[in-house]
Amino acid sequence: MSDKFYITTPIYYVNAKPHIGHAYTTIAADVLARLRRSQGWDVSFLTGTDEHGLKIQKKAEENGKDPQQFVDGISEEFKGLWRSLNIEYSGFIRTTDTRHMMAVQKVLQILYDKGAIYKGKYSGMYCVGCEQFKSENELIDGKCPDHDTMPERMEEECYLLKMADIQDELIRKIESDEFRIAPERYKNEILSFLKNQSLNDISISRKNVRWGVPLPFDSEQTTYVWIDAFLNYLTGIGWNGEIDDIPKEWPADVQFIGKDILRVHATIWPAILIHLGIGLPKMLFTHGHILSDGKKMSKTLGNAISIEEMLEKFGVDGTRYLLLSAGPFGQDIDVTMERMIENYNADLANGIGNITSRIVALNQKMTGGFVGMDFLKKDVVAYDDGTLRENLKNLRLDLELRDIMIHVQELNKYIADNKPWEVFKSDERKFAVIMEHSSRGLMFIANKLLPFMPATAEKIKEALATRQVEILFQRIK
Ligand code: MSP
Repeated sequence: MSDKFYITTPIYYVNAKPHIGHAYTTIAADVLARLRRSQGWDVSFLTGTDEHGLKIQKKAEENGKDPQQFVDGISEEFKGLWRSLNIEYSGFIRTTDTRHMMAVQKVLQILYDKGAIYKGKYSGMYCVGCEQFKSENELIDGKCPDHDTMPERMEEECYLLKMADIQDELIRKIESDEFRIAPERYKNEILSFLKNQSLNDISISRKNVRWGVPLPFDSEQTTYVWIDAFLNYLTGIGWNGEIDDIPKEWPADVQFIGKDILRVHATIWPAILIHLGIGLPKMLFTHGHILSDGKKMSKTLGNAISIEEMLEKFGVDGTRYLLLSAGPFGQDIDVTMERMIENYNADLANGIGNITSRIVALNQKMTGGFVGMDFLKKDVVAYDDGTLRENLKNLRLDLELRDIMIHVQELNKYIADNKPWEVFKSDERKFAVIMEHSSRGLMFIANKLLPFMPATAEKIKEALATRQVEILFQRIK
């Protein structure tokens, strides 16, 4: 039996349409899932939509829609975008699924019965955009830096989850990398946060939010949206809330998140699991934000790049490539339309596109245009090489793409230096050797490219897997 590999994306809020930031995480997760699948792992890849909470309740009201009808529409848009981007997830969880909601209630009851949840009062500044309470030192000029809005003061009776008694265990698990937070600087950031203060117990319910999972032990209150949301990572693989029936996919091998949701994922999420006695995810991988010309993308600034526009200009594989190659995976990346057009032309049109048509045309020159037999077109079997292994240690998907482009340049240089079109006139055998070498090089590039640009890589492989190439290779045997 092959090893399991479980990868998740955050579940996306359905208060607005999907955007380029959501696409970035999901494409990265899809690339990793395809890579692991091609290496023979038994991959589960979960994504989905986060559909409860005040923010969504308000948005539905603004749109004059019933919340369920509203979230149904936007959740479909996410699925549609993932189809367009060729995302091969194995599960799509919606937090309004009855099965998920029932499991959430079961878990809350367990935590309540254990005494990990108790009734109390909570007061603080609440940012609806983040769906989180914010401490004074997280605000800039009294505003939430992520949403540029003034949080509302809120005080209400609610239920709280004990945090202090899991703090030491959490620190130990992070320090030892049993619960790995990557890249390293995020691990350090979280450790210094955890070591410098005692965690406050957190509110896990809301009194005045209708749009949520009702608490099983108090029908006046609904579950705080983040608690409901975290459990998706387990309910999405079929968990129904029974502690002795954890799905075999768990623990997650990699959970991708953006830096804005690191703190909650590194505190509240493991706290729930520790209280329940369930193992923590193996790795929380934090990526940066996509900026546009150094600034946060926003409609007001007019610098937002839409994913639809990218798809129209660059196609599916072009979009996947340009987003993942735009900068170090794990740091903020800056994109502009001009730079993307330049990179598209240099790396894809003149790079990979050009080398493929050159090699295929030269192969044809040799043998005249038969096509048909499947040669070289093998199933992708455990594709692996040293550079890939190194790049995957820290999930530097961008470096893997850079490595592919280096191979493209080298192959271009090899062809330019060896001038097969001239050699063809004088020495057929030598020509065949050059073309075999080039075709194998291109096949190597196509295999490496497969998880990133699946359709393009398949096309290259098919173009090489023709009768011409077979005949060509036979001549030199
Ligand atoms: N619903 C919560 C997550 C719950 S997971 C249990 C949420 N949703 S979100 O839709 O607001 O954001 C989802 C993800 O998109 C986050 O990881 C966030 O970092 C990412 N991005 C949102 N804007 C982004 C960019 N501009 N760039 C890159 N990623 C960004 O938070």
